[in-house]
Parts: sequence; C-alpha cells; structure tokens
Amino acid sequence: MSRILVTGAAGFIGSHLVDRLLDSGHEVVGLDAFTENYSRERKLENLRGAGSSVNFRLVEEYLPDFDVRELLRESDGVVHLAAEPGVRPSWGENFTKYLERNILATQRLLEAAAEVGVGKFVFASSSSIYGQTGGGPVGEDTPRRPASPYGLSKLSSEELVRLYGRDLGVPATILRYFTVYGPRQRPEMAISRFASAALRGENVQIYGDGEQDREMTYVLDVVAATVAALEAEPGGPYNIGGGTRATVNEMIEIVGQATGKQIEVEYAPAAQGDVRSTSADCARAEKELGYHPQTGLEEGIAEQVKWALAANPLPED
Ligand code: NAD
Ligand code: UGA
Repeated sequence: MSRILVTGAAGFIGSHLVDRLLDSGHEVVGLDAFTENYSRERKLENLRGAGSSVNFRLVEEYLPDFDVRELLRESDGVVHLAAEPGVRPSWGENFTKYLERNILATQRLLEAAAEVGVGKFVFASSSSIYGQTGGGPVGEDTPRRPASPYGLSKLSSEELVRLYGRDLGVPATILRYFTVYGPRQRPEMAISRFASAALRGENVQIYGDGEQDREMTYVLDVVAATVAALEAEPGGPYNIGGGTRATVNEMIEIVGQATGKQIEVEYAPAAQGDVRSTSADCARAEKELGYHPQTGLEEGIAEQVKWALAANPLPED
C-alpha cells in the first residue's frame, strides 16, 4: 500500500481516480479548492463513496496559495489533475484563471516536489496542446500548436513538468487525455449537455455544423492509464485516447438512442478555439504502459445516461 496525493480530487476524472486507488488498497489524500466551474454540491457528491473510506482524507486548499510540502512529504506519488479545464471559455479576461490554476499551480507544485522529493509525479495534459491537425491519428511527436488559450496553458504546464523533470529530478510522466466522458462528466461538456437536454425535453445547441469529430475516451480507461503511469518508470508523454471517434452529430444520435428520446437541435456559431478533429495514436502507451481502452462509445454513453438518470436533480451547468 502507498499514499497518493491527487489534486483536483473532487472533479470528474479525479474522483474516479480516487475511487480506483482506494479500491486497490492505497491511502489517498485528495486536494481540491472546489472552484466555481460547477457546483460544490456536485463535487462533494463525486466524493461521496470516497468520503466513507478511512483511507481517504480531503484537503480543501487552492494550489497557488497553499504550501503543499507537508502533504508531499507524506506521499509516495502525486497525480496532478487540478486545473481550469474548459477550452471555449479560455479567451479574454478568463485567461487569468488559466494562468493561475494551470500554469502557476503546476509550477508551485513542481517546486515543492523538487524540494521535498516525490516517488512519482503524473501530470494530466490534454489533446488540446496539438491544436488543429490533419485529421489522422497524431503521435506524441506531432508539432504542438494549441488553438486556444486553454491549450496553451496546458502546453506551458507540460513544459514546466519537462523542465523540472529534466533539470530538477522530478520523476514525471505526462499523459495527454483526449475528450473524456462517462458518469460525473463536467456539466458543460458535450455528452453531459446532450443527455441532460434529452432527458428534460430541451433543445441541444451544436456549435458549427456538428461535423467536427473527437477521439472519445471513457473515464475508467483514463483512470487505468493513470494508475499504470503511477506504477511505471517516468516516461512519455503518452497520448491516452479511447480508440473511438465520433462527430458531434453522431454523439447526439447515440445519446438519442441511449435515452430513447428524439433530440431537437439548434445551430450556433462555431466556437473559437474548437478544433475540427482529434485522433490519438496510442501506440506508445500501449507498448510502455500496457494501455488498452476497454469501453466503446455506445456502451460508455449508455453508462453516462444511466448515471444522469439516477442523479437527482439532473446534472446541469
Ligand atoms: P474538473 O473541473 O471536473 O476537475 C478539476 C478539479 O480541480 C475541480 O474539482 C476543481 O475544483 C479543482 N481545481 C481547479 N483549480 C484548482 C486549484 N488551483 N487548486 C485546487 N483545486 C483546483 O475537470 P476534469 O474534466 O476532471 O479535468 C481534470 C484534469 O484533466 C484537468 O487538468 C484537465 O485539464 C485534464 N483533462 C481533462 C479532459 C476531459 O475531457 N475532461 C481532457 C484532457 C485533459
Ligand atoms: C474536452 C475537455 O473539455 C477539455 O478539458 C480537454 O482538455 C479536451 O477535451 C481535450 O481532449 O484535450 P472538448 O473536446 O471541447 O474538450 O469536449 P466537449 O466539451 O465535450 O466538446 C466536444 C465537441 O462538442 C466540441 O466540438 C464542442 O464545440 C461541441 N459541443 C459541446 C457542442 O456542439 N454543443 C455543446 O453544448 C457542447
């Protein structure tokens, strides 16, 4: 058994990771500031299962302002998921949040990790660091040209992780997750919005023509990759995709089938910073982490709809 520090523990991906680590017999310290990107109640609900474990402790602190050294001293490894995560809202004045919660928070954590020493540092990066690509699967050496301030903040965070890894000995691994979905998905993300709208009988909004496509990754596959990275030697970066792609129009069709509802759509202008296509070449993660995504899109969306139906009230923004 080891003790793992998970930042962003109350969030969508973080809370699933905490559950998995506890199930495997680890002790987990979850750090989260309950930022306002969605409600505190939903984040607390995400941690309901974990909260009943004697092996779990929640620390409510905001990373850039918090001296994390003591927590790191007590930890064998850290998974850094805390961030401001949305692509489309990252323009304009909002960028201050991305600077603080993504770049500065990562630098402070790395600085502390370099000083105190940690066994492993896993960083959650994003497909958004690649920006617009040719449409085919991208390998990790594809040029990184973020198309949004969010993507830039994740790339800058990655560069910090590389720097502290190379020059200050932080044993780091970077994972680039591709659009993650499943139960507890953030309420402003596509599948969440489509499922909630379908179940309420409301229209969904499509940004652009809906023919943009995404590599879709089920959250438990992301968790498996993250645990594998914790257990492996430092390496990467690794693309973590779900092995399945869909256009937004196809996502709506699958949500319609899963809910048994006819979904009415409205078209809105394409969103600035939204890329046309994402597609992951995961050969490196397959080879070095033994990563093999297990959940197909229909099955995963059905699980998310089941969760949305059980949630009372329905998940909303
Ligand atoms: P989320 O918003 O559900 O979780 C992030 C959590 O971090 C939240 O609970 C928030 O309160 C916390 N947080 C934010 N800033 C903080 C700070 N400064 N100090 C302490 N806590 C803070 O988001 P998510 O979708 O679970 O994303 C988790 C990570 O995965 C992020 O780093 C995101 O960039 C990355 N990622 C997500 C996806 C995806 O599709 N969801 C894809 C690629 C990468
Ligand atoms: C997601 C996450 O939100 C980011 O945190 C993450 O870093 C990124 O994946 C990634 O892979 O790196 P995104 O791909 O934009 O970002 O995921 P969604 O928010 O689910 O959107 C998917 C598509 O649906 C986008 O083209 C978006 O414009 C579209 N969409 C979304 C709509 O047409 N309508 C909506 O109401 C919501």
